[in-house]
Amino acid sequence: MPVLVLHAHPNTPPSRVNAALAAAARSVPGVTVHDLYETYPHFFVDARREQALVEAHEAVVFQHPIYWYSAPPLLKQWWDTVLEEGWAYGGNASATVGRTWTHALSTGGSEHSYSGRVDPADDPAGRANFFALDDYVKPWRQSARLCGMRWHPPFTVHEAGRLDDAQLADACARYRAFLVALGAFATPLPPPGA
Ligand SMILES: Cc1cc2nc3c(=O)[nH]c(=O)nc-3n(C[C@H](O)[C@H](O)[C@H](O)COP(=O)(O)O)c2cc1C
Repeated sequence: MPVLVLHAHPNTPPSRVNAALAAAARSVPGVTVHDLYETYPHFFVDARREQALVEAHEAVVFQHPIYWYSAPPLLKQWWDTVLEEGWAYGGNASATVGRTWTHALSTGGSEHSYSGRVDPADDPAGRANFFALDDYVKPWRQSARLCGMRWHPPFTVHEAGRLDDAQLADACARYRAFLVALGAFATPLPPPGA
């Protein structure tokens, strides 16, 4: 089942982990990797082009680092521009219905820091994130719901800044397996007009 990876990394500072993940994704049959910062360095997102890409795939993976508990700004621009009323939601909009929405995330914080179970008393330096990662992704999960899309739990690489080469290679292997499984998860959609 065709999977579209929308890769969003501003490269300031330069990416190590997401660059490797994107390269790994490119090696998976049936996966299209679309580099948003390379395509739209000036943030003028082409809604028609992006909508056509989404329509040609059954699953969309937003691949990005977590920046300020959210996504890099071009992804917000992509959502604001591409998910138009009448196309993605509202009225008889049906373009996105039944497609899968998920994320591939890298975080600076550890898995434990995103567990939502760190007692602030045990974290005097304030390095833990208080909420669980599942809480931070809720606006995206609801956006998928509004668009009639199926939510799939994200692929996650924690402590991205600390990975040695072997750990990064392992993350890439896990990502390839995730994309293959996602392709199987995504429901085949009927052909247009059927
Ligand atoms: C502007 C900025 C904001 C960041 N905000 C967060 C954050 O809120 N939570 C977190 O865990 N890591 C945060 N980080 C760390 C990045 O997520 C981490 O550096 C990135 O996932 C590493 O992947 P890369 O090698 O592809 O850049 C931030 C990094 C930058 C540059």
